Amino acid sequence: MTGTVPESISTEGVNGGVGLTALLVAAARAIETHRPDSLAQDVYAEHFVRAAPASARWPVHIRQVPDGDANPLWGRFARYFGLRTRVLDDFLLRSVHTGGARQVVLLGAGLDARAFRLDWPPDCVIYEIDREGVLAFKHQVLGELAATPRAGRVPIAMDLRADWVGALTAAGFDPAAPSVWLAEGLLFYLPVTAETCLIDTVDRLSAEGSALAYEVKLEKDLLAYRDSPLYTATRHQIGIDLLNLFDGEPRPDSAADLAGKGWSTAVHTPFHFTRRHGRGPLPEPNDALEGNRWVFADKPRR
Ligand SMILES: C[S@@+](CC[C@H](N)C(=O)[O-])C[C@H]1O[C@@H](n2cnc3c(N)ncnc32)[C@H](O)[C@@H]1O
Repeated sequence: MTGTVPESISTEGVNGGVGLTALLVAAARAIETHRPDSLAQDVYAEHFVRAAPASARWPVHIRQVPDGDANPLWGRFARYFGLRTRVLDDFLLRSVHTGGARQVVLLGAGLDARAFRLDWPPDCVIYEIDREGVLAFKHQVLGELAATPRAGRVPIAMDLRADWVGALTAAGFDPAAPSVWLAEGLLFYLPVTAETCLIDTVDRLSAEGSALAYEVKLEKDLLAYRDSPLYTATRHQIGIDLLNLFDGEPRPDSAADLAGKGWSTAVHTPFHFTRRHGRGPLPEPNDALEGNRWVFADKPRR
């Protein structure tokens, strides 16, 4: 078990604001990891949760939740994150092993430990972009665990609302070679201009044969779901008001933008994958997940 990370690192990192959502996903991954029918294994997740003052008392096992799977946050929502983790693990591994890309960029990487837990080709490099405080916390926890990445790993401390291209290329990213990009649980926190710019930039930096996956929310009015069980449980149980953290502007149609740039795209509901894997959330009334879509895009080779 890792020790508690000092306030100086943690305050502007994972212990408040949007950084706290990285801990929420880590707790969900920890719970998923301990399930007998888990869809994804992340042995690092519970260490992140225990190390941060903000989450040290959160559950990391469903048996620590008094109402268990009936709890909207640690039951259904955590299963959502478990499913998302598995589907995007599969996307990344498929892209490097069959697509042949050797550079992976995790945008808003948060406490994603894929560099440490997935089976990468030895010459693969994983670039992790997130804000400085989040990456400092991650570095400290992984350092205490003496965790060893299973590929090259390059953390890049940048705000994705700023110009991050120079930092990525200076770190070794080669726009002439195919790449795989992931924006998991990120875009709805960014202003529309930052999302549009990010998609343009990914396109510009992607050679033919590159791939991108990301998550969006389609709702025109996010506040319509303010009283949904997922949002109220997250607010009341751990003090995260997701709707306050999401950017409130109507979202751009980034999948259409990519299609217009020649990418081939597939847009799926999470429920599609629940049915495929036999576990995960299914639709319910007043559902905060109703507008969630997972987008998979490929830049074809000519
Ligand atoms: C919900 S977490 C998801 C983390 C990770 N992708 C995962 O699924 O485990 C959102 C992450 O986006 C990061 N993030 C949000 N806005 C950002 C910005 N403007 N620049 C860089 N990172 C940002 C947060 O710091 C946080 O780590």
